[in-house]
Amino acid sequence: MTNPIIDQLTQHRSIRNFQNKPLTNEQVAVLVDAAQHASTSTFSQQYSIISVTDPEILKEIGRISGHHWLMNAGHYFVMVADQHRNLRIAKAHDSDPFILHSMDKFLASVFDTAIATENIMVAAESMGLGGTIMGSILNDSQKMIELLNLPELTFPLLGIALGYPADEPELKPRLPKEAVHFRNQYGSDENFDQQLASYDALVAAYYKHRSSNDRTETFSHHIVSELAAGHGRRAELVDVIRKQGFMLH
Ligand SMILES: Cc1cc2nc3c(=O)[nH]c(=O)nc-3n(C[C@H](O)[C@H](O)[C@H](O)COP(=O)(O)O)c2cc1C
Repeated sequence: MTNPIIDQLTQHRSIRNFQNKPLTNEQVAVLVDAAQHASTSTFSQQYSIISVTDPEILKEIGRISGHHWLMNAGHYFVMVADQHRNLRIAKAHDSDPFILHSMDKFLASVFDTAIATENIMVAAESMGLGGTIMGSILNDSQKMIELLNLPELTFPLLGIALGYPADEPELKPRLPKEAVHFRNQYGSDENFDQQLASYDALVAAYYKHRSSNDRTETFSHHIVSELAAGHGRRAELVDVIRKQGFMLH
């Protein structure tokens, strides 16, 4: 059973090479509309979307993320976790804003921002565009806050580089369904170990055969090298998030 939406979802690949063609204002408006119609926790709409068009700011984001290729994208969004608007509402009504500073509300704004981000990606792909979601803006979250003049109770969570694809990368194989989809209770480690062995071989074949940047790497190697690379990385994150007024209790 399939349909055009399922077909599109299962054909997703991140695009990092773009034709030199900007998105129109109308396309951007449609993408924002698609984001805004995503489900939103407690109907609180706890995110903001910043279109970055200033080349100097884009260059800085390229430096922070290490993804200088974003300069060639047709459009760049920064997706911001946002309780600031709701703080304004609380103040206007003399309502106690205590809860807005909680872990619970930080998580809610992260959920909302992430779900809106994926809606933008799916909508963009339906328009013949492609792109890459970028967590690497967190390499210097404080600098991102300054660049975008982000107020209290906002935090820059993800970038999205979008544009007309200049290539069509191979689909990256995902884990076998049985390794991620269980019934009633969490699956057994022994089953996972078996599934991983065949998935490791599949990922190694993908990296060996893909047309660009081919290398020898299994999924297990990938996870282990991610862990090693992550040591001490973004150690300041909790402090910056708290400085913005989130996760105070
Ligand atoms: C939250 C999130 C953050 C990501 N951050 C980056 C990033 O900083 N740089 C990048 O090149 N890709 C980034 N990606 C894209 C992933 O690397 C990509 O989705 C993954 O390798 C699977 O490849 P595919 O999207 O082509 O299927 C991110 C994806 C997500 C969901």
